[in-house]
Amino acid sequence: MKRILVLTGGGDCPGLNAVIRGICKSARREKDWEVYGSIEAFNGVLNEPQEIIHLNSKRTAGIHIKGGTILKTTNKGNPIKFPVQQPDGSFKFIDRSDELVTKLKKLNFDAVINIGGDGSQKISKVLFEKGIPIIGVPKTIDNDLSATDMTFGFQTAVQIATDSFDKLVTTAESHHRVMIMEVMGRDAGWIALHTAIAGGAEICLIPEIPYDVNKLVKRIDLRYKKGRGFVNIVISEGAKAKEGTVTASAGERGSEHVRLGGVAYQLSKQLKDAGCKAEIRETVLGHVQRGGTPSAFDRVLASAFGVKAFELVAEKDFGRMVALRNNTITSVTLEEATKEPNFVKSETTYLLKAAKGLGISFGD
Ligand code: F6P
Repeated sequence: MKRILVLTGGGDCPGLNAVIRGICKSARREKDWEVYGSIEAFNGVLNEPQEIIHLNSKRTAGIHIKGGTILKTTNKGNPIKFPVQQPDGSFKFIDRSDELVTKLKKLNFDAVINIGGDGSQKISKVLFEKGIPIIGVPKTIDNDLSATDMTFGFQTAVQIATDSFDKLVTTAESHHRVMIMEVMGRDAGWIALHTAIAGGAEICLIPEIPYDVNKLVKRIDLRYKKGRGFVNIVISEGAKAKEGTVTASAGERGSEHVRLGGVAYQLSKQLKDAGCKAEIRETVLGHVQRGGTPSAFDRVLASAFGVKAFELVAEKDFGRMVALRNNTITSVTLEEATKEPNFVKSETTYLLKAAKGLGISFGD
């Protein structure tokens, strides 16, 4: 029997289970393949005892409609920068990639499929260079990978954000308030941009375009010209004022990243300090954007990604990441996959032009 090891790394994302099922279903159609899963990204291989499970049909039946990942995940398991707690409680990051490669080679899998975002695919690239036959599958609700036109999970996150935004519009209107809704998007403003257009926001603030608070106050004042008005703002967690920094709490213990969150409150204060008279309320959407069942679109994309990942394995076309490009499912080298992030670009992002055409202010 030939064997595949599948794992999910980084933040969870609606559609992960649909990819796993897609891989397993297409592998099972070929009689000589078996699929296994490493629990909690590569920790399942690194940990002693190892945690590797057989992904039989009982384990994967019907999972495409479930959110999260049946294989669990972590953002504290990067084998290249592995967090090790020191006697004083602090964390030191060490390189365990050689240890991982040795363990993977000993396990003798014919292929590894790593489902994850930018960080995970950088790990895939290093492992491929060290001789592991690996395939990447892109995931992130932030949609910030440039090698694929879209990642699964993004559409679901946008729908959840838009549904919440719609609810805030009616209460903003009833109370003549300014409503600020904070969405995810560490470095890329895709969720905010899509939600602003779908929801009909007056203001959209994203990490790629630093905002001028005074311009925002002017825009808000315009809406209150006749005394009563209301304004709905959507802001990415990574957005910042022209003069200022992003609200970030200290890095979580053992995590490489600082935790973002709370810019809605920061913006609220900035607006008041700059003379905004309207009543303001803040909503931080947070992890609901990543939870629950994937949309039909994301189930389809994720399932197709899973089937494509197995196809690449069967063809022994390793060192590649599955991608959606020009409406077809294809693949790119891991080199290309990790070259540059996908940001909202002033010059080339048509949706930015569309948003401005709809009168949405970015505070620039
Ligand atoms: O990368 C996806 C993302 O949703 C970011 O937008 C966000 O900053 C981050 O994950 C939060 O992750 P967690 O709180 O799970 O560490």
